[in-house]
Amino acid sequence: MNLSYQDALAFYELEGAHPGGFELTKSLLKNEEIDEHDTILEAGCGLGQTSQYLAETYGCQVHALDLHPDMVKQARKRFQQVDLPVHVYMNSIEEMPFPENYFDFIIAESSTSFTSIQKTIREYYRVLKPSGTLISIDMTAEVILPEEQRNEIMNFYNLKSILTQPEWISAFNKGGFAQVNILKSNTVLEELKNSKASESKVLPSNEDFNQIFEEHYRLTLTYGNSLGYRVFRVRK
Ligand SMILES: C[S@@+](CC[C@H](N)C(=O)[O-])C[C@H]1O[C@@H](n2cnc3c(N)ncnc32)[C@H](O)[C@@H]1O
Repeated sequence: MNLSYQDALAFYELEGAHPGGFELTKSLLKNEEIDEHDTILEAGCGLGQTSQYLAETYGCQVHALDLHPDMVKQARKRFQQVDLPVHVYMNSIEEMPFPENYFDFIIAESSTSFTSIQKTIREYYRVLKPSGTLISIDMTAEVILPEEQRNEIMNFYNLKSILTQPEWISAFNKGGFAQVNILKSNTVLEELKNSKASESKVLPSNEDFNQIFEEHYRLTLTYGNSLGYRVFRVRK
């Protein structure tokens, strides 16, 4: 069986698996006007940490969606344990089981990049209310990568593409979004240097998954200046 980076994230139960981690999530949400009347989507929720925070902090209706069965299972368990009425779905964010204009707010933390990006952005547009806001944390190419390097990164992370900042903005515009703001930007290497050592968790030993993480770390060091991320805040 071919194990993926996302299988490893699920196995190690790594939450906040996006650049900036949970601290960035909380600081981004602080600047949004969210209240208990809002309906929110966490797209690619992983283990559900952000959804739990949203439901507990704002008392709003939260829908959490992920394609990975282990992530969905663990997210469900988490909400049951803390007795939170978060709705969980095992679905692709490329095609979601929601009507048009359903959500006031969508947050996608390091998940859009793993999909057919244009398709997913059109789906975000479809399910977001006209007055809604999307926050998407996405991987970027900081330089035009030679094809061989590009393929190495895309194969490891199962990516269909790696977009530059202008390509992301153009994809949001093409998907119908008129306003695209960048709230934060950094390279992968700078982010790694800034992440606190205390955030690293002792991982259980598993040869296959340890190898996947070693490869992830090697790619991070090799391409850390060529890859980055952006926090996009997007509106219709
Ligand atoms: C890097 S993890 C981030 C998880 C979570 N957002 C977090 O920050 O901890 C990427 C997540 O996107 C999910 N994902 C990838 N492709 C997806 C798709 N097409 N539809 C829904 N979720 C997807 C993966 O299963 C994984 O949970």
